[in-house]
Amino acid sequence: MVKILVNDGIEPVGKEMLEAAGFIVDTQKIPQEELMIRLREYDAICVRSATKVRKELIDACPNLKAIARGGVGMDNIDVDYAKARGIHVINTPAASSRSVAELCFAHMLGLTRFLNISNREMPSEGKKGFEALKKKYASGTELFGKTLGIIGLGRIGKELASIGLGMGMNILAYDPMVHQTEIFFGPEKYSTKVNVASTSFQDLLINSDFISIHVPSLDKPLITMAAFKMMKNDAIIINASRGGLIDEHDLIEALDNQLIRGAGLDVFAGEPMPDERLLNHPKISVTPHTGASTLEAQNNIGKELAEQLINVLK
Ligand code: 3PG
Repeated sequence: MVKILVNDGIEPVGKEMLEAAGFIVDTQKIPQEELMIRLREYDAICVRSATKVRKELIDACPNLKAIARGGVGMDNIDVDYAKARGIHVINTPAASSRSVAELCFAHMLGLTRFLNISNREMPSEGKKGFEALKKKYASGTELFGKTLGIIGLGRIGKELASIGLGMGMNILAYDPMVHQTEIFFGPEKYSTKVNVASTSFQDLLINSDFISIHVPSLDKPLITMAAFKMMKNDAIIINASRGGLIDEHDLIEALDNQLIRGAGLDVFAGEPMPDERLLNHPKISVTPHTGASTLEAQNNIGKELAEQLINVLK
């Protein structure tokens, strides 16, 4: 019997599909340090981003036939190494695009209307401070008519462009792999097509009111002080991709020196222990890497993972 360890959780629908296909599905969480021994008895492992599947673990588990990543980023898995050993490595790149894109807009809308800081201040200021806070946060701005700069025009980047167009924003995009792409926006009945062309990185940094990063993990930060210096003073940057893509020290300096207006962060260099200065900063809106964590995305991920696993393991 094929045995699958689901180490970072799966929606019931995914588990049910795998069991209906005749697999034994174990959803207990095995600590990372015990996997070298305990994963040996399984044929496949399902992970999100928490469990790391590195060379050493792959070498220690000669029975492993599949590594399934529920989600997009594969930086927690030694993909090439596993594939070279004949192990199937699968992920669900499309399942969570909409959820991640919507979270980016939640950060943009929250920051432009001071939701992050109002939510922190209103409980302690109480009724007494209501009028003062109303004045303090009266200088919000709209997204309508502003320019959204999207770094990376993959599935999530395109979803952002679609939502942005629907909200009346102008789109600038930078992606060295994409010259031009079609973006559809609006409900199916009224769906409208727009061609979005890729511009230069520098043009995007200089001319965007909102900048959102949608690229895989890189060896070094993409956004450092040099980039912050090019941005508009009221620019807002969003990162729901990978923590290391923004130099966090430079970000704090850029915010404290009014080089930019704010930042929305769903990912952090030090996950799961983010830098406290980011968490407490009044110009930063934070979420704990929940971009792909909606009921819809979890459901899509569970189904897609199960379908692919059944396909490769049957
Ligand atoms: C992804 O790469 O799919 C996202 O960063 C979500 O990560 P998660 O699976 O840990 O929620």
